[in-house]
Amino acid sequence: MLNGKHIILGISGGIAAYKSVALLRLLVKAGAEVQVIITPSGKEFITPVTLSALSGKPVISEFFTANTGSWNSHVDLGLWADAMIIAPATASTIAKMAHGIADNMLITTYLSAKAPVFVAPSMDLDMFAHHTTTNNIALLKSYGNFIIEPAEGELASHLIGKGRMEEPENIVAYLDTYFRSSQDLKGKRVLITAGPTYEKIDPVRFIGNYSSGKMGYSLAHECAARGAKVTLISGPVSLKVEDTDGIEVIKIESGREMLSECEARFGKMDIAIMCAAVADYYVADVADKKIKRESEEIPELKLAKNKDIAATLGQVKTDKQILIGFALETDNEEENALKKLKKKNLDFIVLNSLKDKNSGFGTDNNTITIINKDCSKIKYPNMPKPAVSKAIVDIIVNNYLCSE
Ligand code: C5P
Repeated sequence: MLNGKHIILGISGGIAAYKSVALLRLLVKAGAEVQVIITPSGKEFITPVTLSALSGKPVISEFFTANTGSWNSHVDLGLWADAMIIAPATASTIAKMAHGIADNMLITTYLSAKAPVFVAPSMDLDMFAHHTTTNNIALLKSYGNFIIEPAEGELASHLIGKGRMEEPENIVAYLDTYFRSSQDLKGKRVLITAGPTYEKIDPVRFIGNYSSGKMGYSLAHECAARGAKVTLISGPVSLKVEDTDGIEVIKIESGREMLSECEARFGKMDIAIMCAAVADYYVADVADKKIKRESEEIPELKLAKNKDIAATLGQVKTDKQILIGFALETDNEEENALKKLKKKNLDFIVLNSLKDKNSGFGTDNNTITIINKDCSKIKYPNMPKPAVSKAIVDIIVNNYLCSE
């Protein structure tokens, strides 16, 4: 699975840097193209000459190449990579990653990386067990990074405990498994609705809501990254999808447009995730000219009910299709979410908690509870939306697809 993959190997200044040479050799042997980035203190432990000879590329350490003044672009590197692995990751590098202290090329590249990031900590046992390190690692995990746990054994200090960087063979096996399982939606077709709908009042006004589309777009990226063919039916949002993301985007404005695009495609889908905040009502008598304020008469809007898209798809859903909805409740949260799940014939529903400030509409994070058809529940802590997307897709893959 590593053949042809672009991998950034970040090396920070720990004694385990000597193991990175073996790791680099194994990655290259497995067919990966590896770009090494070493921190200034990493060079105290291992020379760039050895690393560039093995990787077949100049090793990057500084923002600029001293003799030519040319700039090493961390942004380009971040886009180039299919994975970034930081091994060894010292306590200091982990802390800088967790808090965005971008004072070297490794950290700036980490902050620009679009690909999954794997961190293999290496330090003395007390440093590893310290609350600071534990909290920083928890932060990195919450940002969606993968931590390759260090092993127990004799450390450079001759003390025995947890802190030895994982063996290069195991790190390679970890990456291999990741790339294998990361294609767990290969061949699946996924329909996702996202964002708000705008219901026209007149040519310049509409009824809308605050949905940013962040959750739906994040889900689309997660599904596409795991090999699915994704169709995203999106209401008006400022988010963009790149051509290279492999996601088909259909832009709509109103709830009725979203419904007809969904109905036309649902039959061919394996999975549908209804994430959009569809307006409950549309304006039945849209004015064909701008409604004027000068008129003495206060206009009255005649509203009509938008059809429930999730429920409409739920009625025609086959046993092979998986249908997922979202719920945003203010009271009797779980009871109401479960009622919706049943009414709309969903397989599971994702309940957003509004109790948490950093959750729900427009935020970067979400606090969710997944409620299954059989009433079982899984509660998650407040997490960034990409981590929430991963959790949702993990449930689809592990609990629904395998039981097909
Ligand atoms: O009933 P409520 O609007 O709270 O249900 C939310 C769920 O139903 C979400 O998954 C949302 O995308 C979906 N929905 C829909 N069509 C509507 C209203 C809601 O698909 N007209």
